[in-house]
Amino acid sequence: MQNRNGSPLGASAERNVVVGRARIGQGLFAKRAFRAGQTIIQIRGRVVHWKLLWEIGGDFQANCIRFGPETYLDPSASPGRWINHSCEPNAAIGKVNNQLFLFAAAPIRAGAEITFDYSTTIGDDDVWTMRCKCGGAACRKRIRNFGALTPALRESYVERGMVPTFILATLEPGLVATRARTPRR
Ligand SMILES: C[S@@+](CC[C@H](N)C(=O)[O-])C[C@H]1O[C@@H](n2cnc3c(N)ncnc32)[C@H](O)[C@@H]1O
Ligand SMILES: [Zn+2]
Repeated sequence: MQNRNGSPLGASAERNVVVGRARIGQGLFAKRAFRAGQTIIQIRGRVVHWKLLWEIGGDFQANCIRFGPETYLDPSASPGRWINHSCEPNAAIGKVNNQLFLFAAAPIRAGAEITFDYSTTIGDDDVWTMRCKCGGAACRKRIRNFGALTPALRESYVERGMVPTFILATLEPGLVATRARTPRR
């Protein structure tokens, strides 16, 4: 089975998501409904050192997802490559047993585009930014690292388990008051 771009999808990903035309290029869409906290897909790929991102740059850099203190995950053409950012996301990234997962942060209906807030995976030691065209009422227009979010949004994301601990570890002590929660699966 292949997605609409002709790229192979992993077995469980095939049941849960499909890649298709989105508001912003290609995006990832739910093939079935998800309850808040449910795992949508494992984000698969090869783990690379941050230096490679800055050497290659461009789309490669933009499509990698932070994996650890010094590393990123290159999802290549797997489903994790197609997840767009939204300032009003319905999903988030979690790391469990050294693997990255995309999980529903709110109920998601079949057919809906699945998005996460890229700032939840941009550490404060990272300077990558993106102009946002999500079109949401709460759009921040420029997406920056986690520490650049308002204190209220930072606390809300942490309280909802939407921020991996390796991202929180990049923040200045005291920037977030809420205790980190393990992502629900
Ligand atoms: C992981 S890819 C997502 C798939 C992408 N839409 C595509 O067709 O290749 C990340 C890239 O998509 C674009 N993108 C994702 N969300 C965006 C947003 N809210 N506003 C503007 N561009 C976005 C940016 O170019 C970003 O570097
Ligand atoms: Zn936005």
